[in-house]
Amino acid sequence: MRYSFRMFFLACLLSLNLAIAQQQVVANDVERGEKLYSRRCGACHSIDVNRIGPKHRGLLGRTAGSLTDYDYSDALSHSSVVWTKETLNAWLENPQALIPGQKMGFRLKKEDERQDIIAYLVRLKD
Ligand code: HEC
Repeated sequence: MRYSFRMFFLACLLSLNLAIAQQQVVANDVERGEKLYSRRCGACHSIDVNRIGPKHRGLLGRTAGSLTDYDYSDALSHSSVVWTKETLNAWLENPQALIPGQKMGFRLKKEDERQDIIAYLVRLKD
């Protein structure tokens, strides 16, 4: 009886630890994503201000090319792509393949960097 209680207690502790470790992994991805965002995207984009490229706050769930205060290419403003983790991944890997005629002259080849930047963008509050 005593023994099984102790086992139960240990199992609880273990699963709590796993849950915390899992959270930590996500937090690390977001933190790396934030740094990578400023390094890889910061020359053209910012979160809250349109620059060479459009601002990114509220990106997830938005239709591509739908900000009213940014001058998109015709290709992007007529696109019906909706930004999700999947479409963003395809866009960053090869924007021209996803939306031919677009004007973002940049590709991010590294899968892990794309994933971290997307993890960061997903967490941005509206
Ligand atoms: C060399 C400049 C440049 C770099 C670097 C760049 N972008 Fe862009 N980005 C643009 C331009 C220009 C557009 C507008 C494309 C159009 O209108 O066809 C754009 C558009 C976008 C869009 C579409 C947004 C919308 O409102 O539909 C997303 C998403 C995006 N960029 C993400 C990124 C991310 C993430 C990075 C970094 C990994 C990045 N871009 C790096 C120039 C850049």
